[in-house]
Amino acid sequence: MKIIMLGAPGAGKGTQAKQIAGKYNIPHISTGDIFRANIKNGTDLGKKAKEYMDQGLLVPDELTCDLVMDRISHDDCKNGFVLDGFPRTIPQAEALDEALKKIGQSMDFAINVDVPDSHIVNRMSGRRACLGCGATYHVVAIPPKKEGICDICGSELVLRDDDKPETVQKRLDVYHEQTQPLIEYYDKQGILKTVDGTMQMEDVFASIAKILGA
Ligand code: AP5
Ligand code: MG
Ligand code: ZN
Repeated sequence: MKIIMLGAPGAGKGTQAKQIAGKYNIPHISTGDIFRANIKNGTDLGKKAKEYMDQGLLVPDELTCDLVMDRISHDDCKNGFVLDGFPRTIPQAEALDEALKKIGQSMDFAINVDVPDSHIVNRMSGRRACLGCGATYHVVAIPPKKEGICDICGSELVLRDDDKPETVQKRLDVYHEQTQPLIEYYDKQGILKTVDGTMQMEDVFASIAKILGA
């Protein structure tokens, strides 16, 4: 099963993608997590990506597409994968379609997690992320068992550099301008499904599981 998660920054793409990956036993591929891991490790890619990410801008397609195409060619992706944060522009979507077409495949579902902008800033200011394993919490909605510590790997939780309110607003503007057109793109392909992302996390996941079947 090959799934794309669409949605504004903070809509819950990562939260849901992790659950889908667990339930269907397919890899969760988050370009944001890959860039953050590169920043943490001080790689060249990380240095380049950080310049854009800290401003709430998109990392250029040429730094992003090859990375994803390489990742989905790995063996663990042969039964499918869930893409989180990619594609984010029409050219990225076209590059993905092209790459899959070459091997006689196509995406199965594009799931749009719909959350209005008015909810987003609040969610982001409460988000805490684990740089160790990528887990995400919310201080009120989804708190870790022990404050500031990841339930899964025990690392310290941090506020993401790009979760400051000014940067969140910029990310929302960029989303509406460059990523939202993908909703129509996948609707035309007949694979778009929309879920109400303002529900409780478990209810959002139940709606997604229903769409995916089983
Ligand atoms: P990325 O890491 O993809 O960030 P994003 O799209 O802005 O989305 P987020 O990760 O912020 O939110 P999410 O939808 O995953 O929500 P989450 O589950 O965490 O990208 C970061 C940057 O990297 C970009 O700005 C760009 O610069 C660059 N980049 C990445 N991919 C790129 C690409 N393809 N091309 C170019 N540049 C790229 O949830 C948010 C919060 O809400 C959490 O605290 C969570 O616990 C909470 N929450 C989740 N669900 C619920 C619920 N149902 N109810 C209440 N709270 C909830
Ligand atoms: Mg995310
Ligand atoms: Zn962790």
